[in-house]
Amino acid sequence: MKSMVVVLNLVAASLFIIGLKMQQRVPTARKGNLLSAVGMLLAVVVTLVGLEKLHWSFILAGLVTGSVIGLVFAYRVKMTAMPQMIAIFNGLGGGASAVVALSLVYHDVLDKGLTAIGPAMGMDAAVTVALSILIGGVTLTGSLVAFAKLQELVSGNPTLLPGRHLILVLVGLGSLAVGGYMAGFANGPEEIQAALWVLTGLSLVLGVLLVIPIGGADMPVVISLLNSYSGLAAAMTGFVIHNEMLIITGSLVGAAGIILTQIMCKAMNRSLANVMFGGFGATTTSSGGGSDYQNVKSAGLDEAAMILEGAQSVIFVPGYGLAVAQAQHALRDLAEALQRRGVQVRYAIHPVAGRMPGHMNVLLAEANVPYEQLVEMDQINPEFRNTDVVVVLGANDVVNPAANRDPKSPIYGMPILNVHEARTVLVVKRSLGSGFAGIKNELFEAPNALMVFSDAKAALTGILEELKNA
Ligand code: TAP
Repeated sequence: MKSMVVVLNLVAASLFIIGLKMQQRVPTARKGNLLSAVGMLLAVVVTLVGLEKLHWSFILAGLVTGSVIGLVFAYRVKMTAMPQMIAIFNGLGGGASAVVALSLVYHDVLDKGLTAIGPAMGMDAAVTVALSILIGGVTLTGSLVAFAKLQELVSGNPTLLPGRHLILVLVGLGSLAVGGYMAGFANGPEEIQAALWVLTGLSLVLGVLLVIPIGGADMPVVISLLNSYSGLAAAMTGFVIHNEMLIITGSLVGAAGIILTQIMCKAMNRSLANVMFGGFGATTTSSGGGSDYQNVKSAGLDEAAMILEGAQSVIFVPGYGLAVAQAQHALRDLAEALQRRGVQVRYAIHPVAGRMPGHMNVLLAEANVPYEQLVEMDQINPEFRNTDVVVVLGANDVVNPAANRDPKSPIYGMPILNVHEARTVLVVKRSLGSGFAGIKNELFEAPNALMVFSDAKAALTGILEELKNA
């Protein structure tokens, strides 16, 4: 039986790794996801079968409830609200690890009448339990704050408490000290319980303190980091309860989360420390309001169609607004019509366009846009200067030249798509309103830029109609 469990665990772990690998590429991502899900089901079943003295009715009720909630979320959540959903799932994962660790202290120490955690569980397990509670608690409240910010239940602006860095250091060091005390020195049930609950409380406060100073635009990085934390907490819990699957999955989540965090920081040209402690977005140098703009030129859909008709090369730049308008199918239709006329069509993909990593890739894949036409930022940037027309579709921050030119801009240093270098830039959006960073975009005033004030879907279908009638 034991060797069977090991073999099945190995199969489940392999399914996770192969599934993750397949998720690297859009054409294989769905199959990869399914494969990983099958691996997870196998891991859950094997773990349950391996346990003794189970209340199967409880387990079944939990499985059914969890699956129903997961399915409803997955079907009902809008693509644009995906980061919030990931945040809440991370938080619950971290919270679950903390609760398991908490219950272990009761089950393995207090309920057995033992008086110290270290000798009862072994010192390594005692330290791991403390860390699991700490990281799990931070992940839970940090993710809940991230969720509330993204869902706009609270303001997305950074909340900068006076002396916040000192408070953070004190609470951080305090929780480490209490965790160490609980694992190694607490003697007797009262001391153990007091340390246990103080540690839990401090970890919950620490999660809030870590995330409230971070602005909405940095939330994806934070969510990815919290994702990594939830993996770490799970892996630690796995060590304590001797569950290899939890160690493997936790490590995979931990590593994937930290790698993604790194990739996103690099894409924004920011260090992780700057994201976490920089209070980014607290002040902006210029307002994003329409009244700040001068000499903005606009074009109607007929003019936009005429300009596209005369082009030989077109690059579409999708952004968050394209996802909001759900205009991906209309975009593909227009792109195909242009290609039939012999126009070279490409799509420029900025790594943080939209609201989640890979957002634009997923959006365009949904409309069956050929994957080879999607070009990453570094490859497409040298191409803009030789391009006739760039059509910016509901993108704003990722094409804002202030990131290159204005050292005072809050997005200074973030690599952008250099669309302003193209011969003509059509910017499709509903107004002169700002993007996520809440700042002015000088692209809208550029001599080669024309604003097409419209919802992205209405603009794309309208331009296609005009082209057909031409
Ligand atoms: P944003 O800078 O957020 O700009 C989106 C623009 O879309 C807005 O200015 C809005 O202008 C327009 N828009 C909204 N609805 C529209 C519609 N129905 N039709 C046409 N336009 C519409 O988007 P971006 O350029 O993709 O940049 C992403 C930003 O979000 C960056 O600051 C990034 O750091 C941040 N962020 C990224 C992520 C990830 S990982 N991708 C996650 C969270 C945040 P109007 O209101 O005038 O139409």
